[in-house]
Amino acid sequence: MLATIPVTVRDLVVDDLPACSWSGSPVHLRYVAAELERVPRGEVDYLALCPPSGLPVGMALLDWTVVPGAGHIGQLAVHPALRSCGLGTLLIGQAEARIVARGRDRADLRVEVGNGRARALYERLGYEAYGEAPDGWDQEGPDGMVVRYETTSTLMRKQLR
Ligand SMILES: CC(C)(COP(=O)(O)OP(=O)(O)OC[C@H]1O[C@@H](n2cnc3c(N)ncnc32)[C@H](O)[C@@H]1OP(=O)(O)O)[C@@H](O)C(=O)NCCC(=O)NCCS
Repeated sequence: MLATIPVTVRDLVVDDLPACSWSGSPVHLRYVAAELERVPRGEVDYLALCPPSGLPVGMALLDWTVVPGAGHIGQLAVHPALRSCGLGTLLIGQAEARIVARGRDRADLRVEVGNGRARALYERLGYEAYGEAPDGWDQEGPDGMVVRYETTSTLMRKQLR
């Protein structure tokens, strides 16, 4: 059976956060909320991909401050129940369109070493690795404690025009 569902991409807003618990722990959602506070200052855009319900099933951060002349795509996530249907590809395409609309010509992102499926997706979409860097973020540990997760990420970029 095949179901075709229209989706739209709009800006994520704070009121969406209760419907975004699928994307991570309360610690992660506090990070998302902190990023949304940067939107009015023009430092970031936060994209939400939604089916007709209007509830986000995909999210992506676009940070304009990380790499001069580029848009940095981060916190890309698709609802686990809807992965491998092309939504991540669609979201990246919309992020790239925003980068071009802002007059920038490169997309940049990081993918954790070992996240082979995400890296394969980015390579399929034309991203090339250009280095590695230490990376890390706060996570929810046992008993709700915040613990620092340290890792290494591959730096990837794509020339858009
Ligand atoms: C990475 C992530 C955002 C990709 O989103 P997605 O919606 O699954 O991405 P797509 O569907 O566009 O492409 C991914 C896969 O679907 C396949 N695919 C794409 N369109 C398809 C379609 N119409 N029909 C069937 N398969 C399709 C792709 O070939 C790809 O293959 P894979 O399943 O072997 O990986 C998602 O897996 C995710 O949220 N992961 C957890 C968080 C994460 O790792 N984020 C990345 C941080 S750098």
